[in-house]
Amino acid sequence: MIDTGPSACLNSQMDNSITILPIAGALGAEISGIDLSQPLSNAGFDKVHQALLDHQVIFLRDQPGLTPEKQKAFAQSFGTLNVHPYVTGMSGHPELLDIIKEPDDLTNFGGGWHSDMSFQEKPALGSVLYALDVPPYGGDTLFASQIAAYEALSDGMKTMLAGLRAVHSASQEYSARGTSAQARQSMSSTTAEAAPEYEHPVVRTHPETGRKGLYINPAFTLRFAGMTRKESRPLLSFLFEHSREERFTCRFRWSRHAVAFWDNRCCWHYALNDYPGYRRHMRRATINGDQPF
Ligand code: SIN
Repeated sequence: MIDTGPSACLNSQMDNSITILPIAGALGAEISGIDLSQPLSNAGFDKVHQALLDHQVIFLRDQPGLTPEKQKAFAQSFGTLNVHPYVTGMSGHPELLDIIKEPDDLTNFGGGWHSDMSFQEKPALGSVLYALDVPPYGGDTLFASQIAAYEALSDGMKTMLAGLRAVHSASQEYSARGTSAQARQSMSSTTAEAAPEYEHPVVRTHPETGRKGLYINPAFTLRFAGMTRKESRPLLSFLFEHSREERFTCRFRWSRHAVAFWDNRCCWHYALNDYPGYRRHMRRATINGDQPF
């Protein structure tokens, strides 16, 4: 799909040549013709918003002017910004997370399938990730459509999942043994060991598109509500395995100053750790969302 319609002219200095090119079958599209460092017109906002709803994750390359202030301004046009309870934000910009992997780091922040902030009562709507320093190879981010994963299930499985709720918490991922906690991030003094638990429906209805998708993830979903972890494990394991099948995924090869904007309400992501000896530096703004239903 190539979109070059009349409403494609977004911010003032832009020409009419905005294009939206899908990068895989299930989700993901690259958009060109937008300068995120300039305020979006109403038509421009509508265009980006619709692209996010249509493709679940969108990518924009060559955005050299995206200062912290401008990244926040863009993200704020979609909602208020999240201040992470367990990771310290940038100095002067608590809503922005520096995600840095140094050449000698073995662990990797975001190195497991997850949906941002599902451990909160009102999880994140979306995340805007900006590449400041990328390795010469590797360091791609994978995404998986949880709408596609849900739609591919049998009617019998969909019926079984319909009434189920699941318990989410930061207690495993951000506790001392968790992948994210072990990555060389600035962990805040708040300890995740005793993080609260919140229940969300296993099948979530997207609040804007009305489409149904799975809303569980290996990092933050501990068990089904009303069941033990042991009882939950077989079905959760099946669903985690199913939800990351290749046919539901896309893969983004980063370049310096590229931006990824994903919808946490309907997709997972995974930061690959395949570039030992090199540095990778990303900056994330996370947009607050609604209580899942
Ligand atoms: C994240 O999980 O937010 C980080 C993703 C990445 O660094 O690619």
